[in-house]
Amino acid sequence: MYTPLIFLALATTALGYPSVKPQGPIGGATPEPLEGLWTPPSHVYSNGQYKQVVFLSFDGMHQSDLVKYIEMFPNSTWASLMKNSIVFNNAKASSPSDSFPATTALFTGATPRLSGIYWDDTWAKDLYPASSNCTGPMGAEVDWSVASDYNSSSLTGGNAFNLSAVAMKLNSWGVCQPIFPHDYLRVNTIFEVARANGLNTAYFDKHPSYEFVNGPSGLGLTQGYFPEIGAVAANLPAIMAWDDLHWSALSNVTAGHYVNGTGTIDFSIIGANFQGVTWAQSNGGGYACGSTLANPIFGKNLTTAFKAVDAKLGVFIKQLKAAGKLESTLLILGSKQGQSPVDESTLTHVDPQKVINATGVEVSFMTGDDAALIWLKNGFDAVTAKTNLLAQAKALNIQSVLAGDEVWEYGFGNPRFDPRAPDIVIYAKDGTLFSTNTQTENHGAWVPDDLEVPLVLYNPTFTHTNISLEVKTTQIATTILSALGLPLAQLDGWRSEGTPVLPYLGLPNH
Ligand SMILES: *[C@@H]1O[C@H](CO)[C@@H](O)[C@H](O)[C@H]1NC(C)=O
Ligand SMILES: *[C@@H]1O[C@H](CO)[C@@H](O)[C@H](O)[C@H]1NC(C)=O
Ligand SMILES: *[C@@H]1O[C@H](CO)[C@@H](O)[C@H](O)[C@H]1NC(C)=O
Ligand SMILES: *[C@@H]1O[C@H](CO)[C@@H](O)[C@H](O)[C@H]1NC(C)=O
Ligand SMILES: *[C@@H]1O[C@H](CO)[C@@H](O)[C@H](O)[C@H]1NC(C)=O
Ligand SMILES: *[C@@H]1O[C@H](CO)[C@@H](O)[C@H](O)[C@H]1NC(C)=O
Ligand SMILES: *[C@@H]1O[C@H](CO)[C@@H](O)[C@H](O)[C@H]1NC(C)=O
Ligand SMILES: *[C@@H]1O[C@H](CO)[C@@H](O)[C@H](O)[C@H]1NC(C)=O
Ligand SMILES: *[C@@H]1O[C@H](CO)[C@@H](O)[C@H](O)[C@H]1NC(C)=O
Repeated sequence: MYTPLIFLALATTALGYPSVKPQGPIGGATPEPLEGLWTPPSHVYSNGQYKQVVFLSFDGMHQSDLVKYIEMFPNSTWASLMKNSIVFNNAKASSPSDSFPATTALFTGATPRLSGIYWDDTWAKDLYPASSNCTGPMGAEVDWSVASDYNSSSLTGGNAFNLSAVAMKLNSWGVCQPIFPHDYLRVNTIFEVARANGLNTAYFDKHPSYEFVNGPSGLGLTQGYFPEIGAVAANLPAIMAWDDLHWSALSNVTAGHYVNGTGTIDFSIIGANFQGVTWAQSNGGGYACGSTLANPIFGKNLTTAFKAVDAKLGVFIKQLKAAGKLESTLLILGSKQGQSPVDESTLTHVDPQKVINATGVEVSFMTGDDAALIWLKNGFDAVTAKTNLLAQAKALNIQSVLAGDEVWEYGFGNPRFDPRAPDIVIYAKDGTLFSTNTQTENHGAWVPDDLEVPLVLYNPTFTHTNISLEVKTTQIATTILSALGLPLAQLDGWRSEGTPVLPYLGLPNH
């Protein structure tokens, strides 16, 4: 019975990987029919309190930015939404807070120990380098930034991945294949759960590699839309125009169409993110001098970015109402992660090569921004590397270092057994970015500036409530499933880590 599968695997390989197109819908392509591994469901299973859930992420936004914005603009959309919102004002983003693990948290409910996702650009001890044909030593960089696009200067990313630039894996039947982003995720996603129960799903993000939310099956999204943000000009108006593509896609799917505005389809989970705020924060004109997380002061560009969000949010609410879906939708507004440092007087750039050199041992790979993760050639060098790093802590702005077993004790994977877990984790001093670029802020660490995100749940039947209980963005995953009446037991993140549904919404935790 396995013969056809093996035949299929060999046939796929024989196509020759440099020209193979990615699986799954990319850039608004026609959704692939469910076939092969999955039996298409014969019925739609959903008996939840809501017909659809919409999750919008305003990347980079802090909870304190929301408070400040409402104070500055009491007649804004944000302020008016508060009247019917349950606000979790002590919500924490994922650790690490880089966009990849932060997105993983939202849609899997899992932490990196389970999901295997630590950053967008990492090292995997169990994969082979790009273009290696699985020859030579194991261990490879896995880079899901724009570098994985087939054509990073095209808005579509070339509608494919560059299969000469992605890591390769040796299958159990001896075939060497390039991997796709969704192959890298170890757990399933809420999109897969929804689709397996006959519902439609749509998600929009910033690079084609975000197709990883399809989940390991590659089939979680009915439609993905990932215009490449790296293909647009590096200025605020261009980034806001790019955001408008996502607003337009959101408007079309809300009205019951595909992303391109044609056809008739009901999406049950719709997710989108927006980049104007994070761009303004990290490219000058973010927070003014004297800003702190408790009391942020917006620069001109950041105010412009927030006002654009507010206006578009107002239009979106009207569209939801016009589609007759306002009452039946649970709207979740939040952010994948914050941004550090809000107080730019603390900003210091440290050359990552200096950190690598300071370990004094052979380093396979380092990734980082306001924190750093390091994979070593030999894991048993971890303690030596830690000692050497701490000896230069002052010069390198290092606050503290986790090495070897400490990485696992802290809550990440165990680098002894887990080929994805870093051997060394570096906490930087506040305001430090391990990069040589000109960015004024970034994220990835788990300092308050990165973690303190807004989390607002809106429905016209809600009465304004602020809840200061600490919750995590992983809980958004289970909350979305529960709101739709889907069984949490079908989500790996819930089964293995018990990630609870957000409280006070009257949604069942099963
Ligand atoms: C719009 O998108 C749908 C779904 O991907 C596709 O079937 C259809 O051909 C597209 N229409 C146009 C005009 O591109
Ligand atoms: C609830 O939180 C919002 C947003 O953080 C804030 O603007 C509002 O003042 C808070 N309301 C109360 C009653 O605390
Ligand atoms: C808000 O609206 C009210 C009434 O519509 C108006 O009196 C007030 O000046 C407005 N406030 C601001 C800050 O625009
Ligand atoms: C890997 O295989 C491809 C396709 O057969 C070939 O073109 C390439 O030269 C090989 N590369 C290495 C490093 O063996
Ligand atoms: C990449 O996209 C750009 C912009 O659309 C285009 O000009 C260029 O020809 C494309 N390159 C390749 C290799 O397809
Ligand atoms: C694909 O990646 C390889 C290896 O990094 C690179 O040499 C090649 O130029 C890339 N192809 C395109 C079309 O960008
Ligand atoms: C604000 O954004 C504009 C447009 O991108 C840019 O030219 C300007 O330098 C930014 N302002 C500051 C203070 O950085
Ligand atoms: C949304 O639909 C309109 C047509 O109604 C179309 O012009 C627009 O391009 C669509 N948006 C996207 C992102 O494709
Ligand atoms: C790191 O070490 C190498 C080899 O000793 C040296 O050439 C390089 O300049 C060092 N880089 C930095 C940034 O210190």
